[in-house]
Order: sequence, then C-alpha cells, then structure tokens
Amino acid sequence: MCVNRTFFNLYSVRIDIITVLPELLESPFNHSIMKRAQEKGLLQVHLHNLRDYTPYKHGQVDDYQFGGGAGMVMMPEPLIIAIEALQKDRKYDEIIYVTPDGERLNQKIANSLSLKENILIICGHYKGIDERIREHYITKEISIGDYVLSGGELAAAVLVDAIGRLLPGVLNNETSALSDSFQDNLLAPPVYTRPADWKGRKVPDILLSGDPKKIDEWRYEMSVKRTMERRPDLLEGTDIG
Ligand code: 6GU
Repeated sequence: MCVNRTFFNLYSVRIDIITVLPELLESPFNHSIMKRAQEKGLLQVHLHNLRDYTPYKHGQVDDYQFGGGAGMVMMPEPLIIAIEALQKDRKYDEIIYVTPDGERLNQKIANSLSLKENILIICGHYKGIDERIREHYITKEISIGDYVLSGGELAAAVLVDAIGRLLPGVLNNETSALSDSFQDNLLAPPVYTRPADWKGRKVPDILLSGDPKKIDEWRYEMSVKRTMERRPDLLEGTDIG
C-alpha cells in the first residue's frame, strides 16, 4: 500500500525529477504554497540533472533519430543509469513521463497521485525519449493539455503543484482544496471581497446575509450554472447532467 501515515496522521510525498534543465525547475517550488509544503515536510522535491548520469563525453544525452528526420532523441543509457541509481534508494510507486501524447491531466489523476509515497518524473526534450525507455520503465504518461511545450519541465512543475497542494496540511484551510473547481466535477462559484459596492456594482446580497445555509445553496447553484454555461462536458454522466 502506498499511503504513508506518520504518527501525526500526515501524508508526505517525495517527488524526484530527472531533467536536463534543473535550473528551470528551481523557482516554481520555492515560493508560496509549494515552499510551505516543503517546509512543513509534507512534500519533498528532488531535482536530478540527467547530464550527471551520462556515460558519454561532454554530458551528451541525445542523439540523431534512426530513420532520419528533424530533431534529436534522448538516448536510453543516461536515463537508464539515472533511473536505476534512484531506484537503488527507494521503490517508486509511479515513474511518470510527461509528454504531449500522454493521458490528459485532470483533478482525478492529481488526487490519486497525491496518495502515493514516491513519484519519479522524467522530463523529455527535443523529440522525446527513446521508445524502449517508455516501454520498460515508465508506468504512467501524462500530458498537461493539447498543445506542445518545448520541454517537459513546465509540465512537471504543473503536475507537482497540482499534487502538492492536495496534501493534507498544505493549505491553511483543510477544506479549501475540496471546494476547488473540478473537485466534484463542478467549476467554483464566483467570489467577492471588499468593497461591497464598487462603483454601483454590488456584491450579491445573499453573501452579506450571514446565513451560511443560504450562502452554501447559492454557491452550489452558481457552480452548477457556471459549469452548464462553460463546461457542460463536466456534467455528462453526473446526476446534474
Ligand atoms: Cl507533458 N510536455 C511537452 N513537451 N509538451 C506538452 C506537455 C508535456 N503537455 C502538453 N504539452
């Protein structure tokens, strides 16, 4: 079982990332919520530079593709050496390759990954990684949307953020992740703060009513309305649809 509970009933997740551009991934996890998650010991992110593992000269990690064609391919050996070196220290619940032809990331996938203990993410570059690595080592392939990025690093950052914020204790208000858009196939309702009247545009009265039951009902109705208008696909197969 991959769920890790300490005496304090906290989950923690360790994420290792293999990349040729560790610099690109330093900032995203060192601010705000991801920083706090790490400071609290709930999330660990470890970056590994693929070039440190290559047996080839000059840090080479890619080569021309067989069959010709534009673009380089990441060679098997550096990845094999890196993955197996990391596997000596721990067993990974998932080895994820972030790639535009992977399964499209959604909240359900993020939720399920947040229950794992050890995750290894491989960032591709150029034309991607040698197919044999995908067949032999990768347990999950994830895309963050139908567009192409110049490398897997930004996608890995998105994935780690989506996982990290779900770990119990990371968000101030424990229920806060539960009321996110997508958590129950609904988009979030509109939110307001001061001033209650901005140039004649007023905050809905109900939010100022102090009646928590009415406010909950209103928020639910707004969520449903917003989802029907913007993302009716989310409602297909639910009671609401
Ligand atoms: Cl995971 N990688 C790259 N390079 N591009 C993407 C992507 C991943 N997801 C969407 N576009």
